[in-house]
Amino acid sequence: MRPFLVVGNWKMNGTRESATQLVNEILRGPELPATAEIAICPPFVYLADMARLLNGGTLILGAQNLCAEDNGPYTGEVSGSMLRDAGCRYVIVGHSERRNLYAENDALVARKFMAAQRAGLTPILCVGETLTQRQRGETHAVIMRQLMAVLDAAGIDAFDQAVVAYEPVWAIGTGKTATSAQAQEVHALVRACISAGNARIGGAIRLLYGGSVKASNAAELFQMPDINGGLVGGASLEAYEFIAICKAAI
Ligand code: PGA
Repeated sequence: MRPFLVVGNWKMNGTRESATQLVNEILRGPELPATAEIAICPPFVYLADMARLLNGGTLILGAQNLCAEDNGPYTGEVSGSMLRDAGCRYVIVGHSERRNLYAENDALVARKFMAAQRAGLTPILCVGETLTQRQRGETHAVIMRQLMAVLDAAGIDAFDQAVVAYEPVWAIGTGKTATSAQAQEVHALVRACISAGNARIGGAIRLLYGGSVKASNAAELFQMPDINGGLVGGASLEAYEFIAICKAAI
């Protein structure tokens, strides 16, 4: 099994000064566990600064989004190769805020996933249902649709160098976490779906849970058999809370 992965998604928060302070606090804080890879995803404009601070150490750099195209007349966009250049290894694709607020559909998410891999980045593909979809009993159908869109476009082998994050939309930034049983159920579904294409890849792929992960609930979530890490929003903006979550990694 690959090491656990804990990813801090800073979203659109902070300043250059607060970002620098946060990274310094994480680097100087209690030792991070060797059993996990730890990544932070700052806003684009702070990536280069953060890369200099991290200086190739144990903390890894990721980005929150990328353009589906490689280069050209796409004003305001940032390509995968630019993110690589800035020192990123990971990039989040298909976050529910991108899907819901910026109308990113399954087809675009699949193109972004493939653009990330063309640039040598590991995509962290987010999937998740809304509260209404869960209440209607559509959770499995929604997750499968979001996952299959990328599997069909990119092919099963692409998942050898990818991460999937299950983030129920109703749990993001709301303080409501899926129970470990609810999360495990969806994670098992995702793993089964990938394993149906390739058992080795399905067994090895890291599946992260995201949605109001905190130091107080991380250990319970992380002990589930198909949860291999976390995608952490709000709690990643506080060094000691984030470190405590990382320490819950198995
Ligand atoms: P949250 O965000 O931890 O603040 O709920 C998670 C995410 O959106 O990735």
